Amino acid sequence: MTTTHQPATPFEMGGIGHSVRRKEDDRFIQGAGRYLDDIQLPGMLHMAILRSPIAHGRILSIDTSEAEATDGVVAVVTGEMLAAHGLAWMPTLSGDTQAVLATDKVRYQGQEVAAVIATDPYVARDALSGIFVDYEELPAITSPQQALEPGAVLIRDEKEGQTDNVAYTWEAGDKAATDEAFAKADLVVTLDTHYPRSHPAPLETCGVVADVNPATGEATIYLTSQAPHAHRTLFAIVAGLPEEKIRVVSPDIGGGFGNKVPIYPGYVVATAASLLIGKPVKWVESRSENLISTGFARDFHMHGELALTADGRILGLRASILSDQGAFYADAQPTRFRAGLFHICTGSYDFGAAHVTAKGAFTNKAPGGVAYRCSFRVTEASYLIERLVQNAAYELGMDPAEFRLKNFIRPEQFPYLSPTGFVYDSGDYHTALRKAMEMIDYEGWRRRQQEPHPEGKLIGIGIASFTEVVGAGNSRTYDIAGLKMIDSAELRIHPTGKAILKLGVKSQGQGHETTFAQIVAEELGIPFEDVKVQEGDTDNTPYGLGTYASRSTPVAGAATAVVARQIREKARKLAAHLLEASPDDLEWEPGRFFVRGVPDKGVTIQEVAFAAYTNFPEGMEAGLEGVHYYDPPNMTYPFGSYIVVVEIDPEDGTWKVLDMVAVDDCGVRINPMIVEGQITGGLTEGFAKANMQWITFDENGNCIGSNFLDYLVPTAWEAPRFRLGETVTPSPHHPIGAKGVGESATVGSPAAYVNAVIDALWSKGVRNIDMPVLPHRVWGALNGVEVAP
Ligand code: CDP
Repeated sequence: MTTTHQPATPFEMGGIGHSVRRKEDDRFIQGAGRYLDDIQLPGMLHMAILRSPIAHGRILSIDTSEAEATDGVVAVVTGEMLAAHGLAWMPTLSGDTQAVLATDKVRYQGQEVAAVIATDPYVARDALSGIFVDYEELPAITSPQQALEPGAVLIRDEKEGQTDNVAYTWEAGDKAATDEAFAKADLVVTLDTHYPRSHPAPLETCGVVADVNPATGEATIYLTSQAPHAHRTLFAIVAGLPEEKIRVVSPDIGGGFGNKVPIYPGYVVATAASLLIGKPVKWVESRSENLISTGFARDFHMHGELALTADGRILGLRASILSDQGAFYADAQPTRFRAGLFHICTGSYDFGAAHVTAKGAFTNKAPGGVAYRCSFRVTEASYLIERLVQNAAYELGMDPAEFRLKNFIRPEQFPYLSPTGFVYDSGDYHTALRKAMEMIDYEGWRRRQQEPHPEGKLIGIGIASFTEVVGAGNSRTYDIAGLKMIDSAELRIHPTGKAILKLGVKSQGQGHETTFAQIVAEELGIPFEDVKVQEGDTDNTPYGLGTYASRSTPVAGAATAVVARQIREKARKLAAHLLEASPDDLEWEPGRFFVRGVPDKGVTIQEVAFAAYTNFPEGMEAGLEGVHYYDPPNMTYPFGSYIVVVEIDPEDGTWKVLDMVAVDDCGVRINPMIVEGQITGGLTEGFAKANMQWITFDENGNCIGSNFLDYLVPTAWEAPRFRLGETVTPSPHHPIGAKGVGESATVGSPAAYVNAVIDALWSKGVRNIDMPVLPHRVWGALNGVEVAP
């Protein structure tokens, strides 16, 4: 049930619930962050990559002689050279294989073909024009529908046993029960929609500095990595290097959003080059390289059907998806789930039956399928159900808010088992939606919508009441490439009462250095300013699967609370020794133990820490530290209700947001200001998806959207003003009741914007407009005119 959280610690201590300022921002706003491209090592060489100009073609020959003869060029690497070391192909995170440098064919525009290593980055890039590749061009497949047509050219002809362009097939839920539900329905509402290909587009592109020491064979790999430990293990497997000799260091990261989860060919080539040449090699992508070749997101063609009763109850859901995988199946997602966590598509609603089928197709586009600020395809799932629910309400003649309130899972039903097998931990959807309706004055807007507009503009009101699933694993169900989805925390309290917390996750700007220190402050009473948080160096942090899918707080945050509590138990024994009392007779208040009933007789955590190294009882091990590996019993299920009001100009199809409220519930908020920052960023990204952003290709497979003039990233100027609200429904299984929040708003908000536009146009016969809802699409839909996409 919804509660409020009152901080238990004073503000200066910075425990849970305090909006203390982010510790890391001092260096970020002074330009003193240390990013990958800031790294300079003695003798360092630079790499540039030659990429395929065409989407599909056989390589007939590669002539590198002119590039090799260029002043300053140290080496030119081709796929054939890598093949001699068994490195021409590498495994993907989804169990496929991907070319490191192409040897046989190129399969998408921008694919890596050769690399130049030179003494200067500009020399390396210029020398690319001295490499001549002869291609025999093949037909390009640019859509999954085309890929599955009989007789379509085979993209993955190198793959043994592959006779078509199908990357995977998968299903979830109960088909028979769903058929039964549909047989009983009074009404079936359907929706076909495409969640377009998008790109995480972090401001810092991907890169590596590979430093292999020829004398020791030790490799230090500086990497823009969201998952340094997993990357170290995968490097060991791909490159055949002994894992103890690999150290992955992930410095400050300028945004990741899922883009920095996969291993890219450039990382492998730079490491191989450093190994062969014996010098450090740096490679940093350009913006266009990032947009055309690294992990894209979404690209799901979705068909959904809702079975309904005439009085407005949902009975069942059918969903089928066709996903565009690009040339290699490289989704970063748990092994068991071929379409990620799409099967959470029953959303916030209580009904008995659902069945989901999914098929992925290879196309001549870049591989990816990364969870862009999303928990493994939950974004697509949330979009489909929230669009369907809205259309269902209109078909039934009901208000969409009323329809949702009627079908929501009720608070007393938690923990709730969904028809596709998820156990939702806690929720109170009715309260969140009612709060959002009140904040925006829903009834008032519905009235105003009916009034004639002086300029003929149309008003639309859109709702999205999403449920997310974040914090993978548990280890029984969730692994990536076989690595179980756990995470860890190591906490050391120094003699003077200061502390260092080492984590397996890796911040890309989310504020971990502050919030994780706040958890320690909450549990041990050590001021958050006294707790240094270290991440990103595999030699100096415990193992973990990394930061994506909003899993840091649910998993590493829980590990931090647990290890801090373990340390507090040892501190209690030390305090008892100092106070000459029994541990059971001690009471705890933030930062201090005291003897029950004698509040003046106490010791601070700092005094206890000193004693752990100077005055510990006989038989007790010295020191005050611990490590904990947390295997979550369940995921956490943050949720929220967003309401958007838009105004559409029917003359030209443009639309603008008049008001938007977002009520989020991520359980207990560690730092409310940071949470609001996460939500504001996510709402802005959701707005960009709905309004302006997509990666497209022409019929030859040329990527249109390879720069920030064509792929639009919203700034403060375009972004609407958001009003935020909250409810607090703690997670019952998380030690501090927190749920993840990093991606809630990216997941939940796109449907709210689109629903608002459709709300305005429903009475004109418009049932759907795919994202991005561009003005010409709106105009076309309003006027019944087919327009170019
Ligand atoms: O995994 P990632 O850090 O991207 O996502 P997250 O765990 O949802 O956390 C994003 C940021 O919000 C972190 O700094 C969290 O500690 C903070 N947060 C919070 O203060 N309270 C919550 N209930 C959830 C996250």
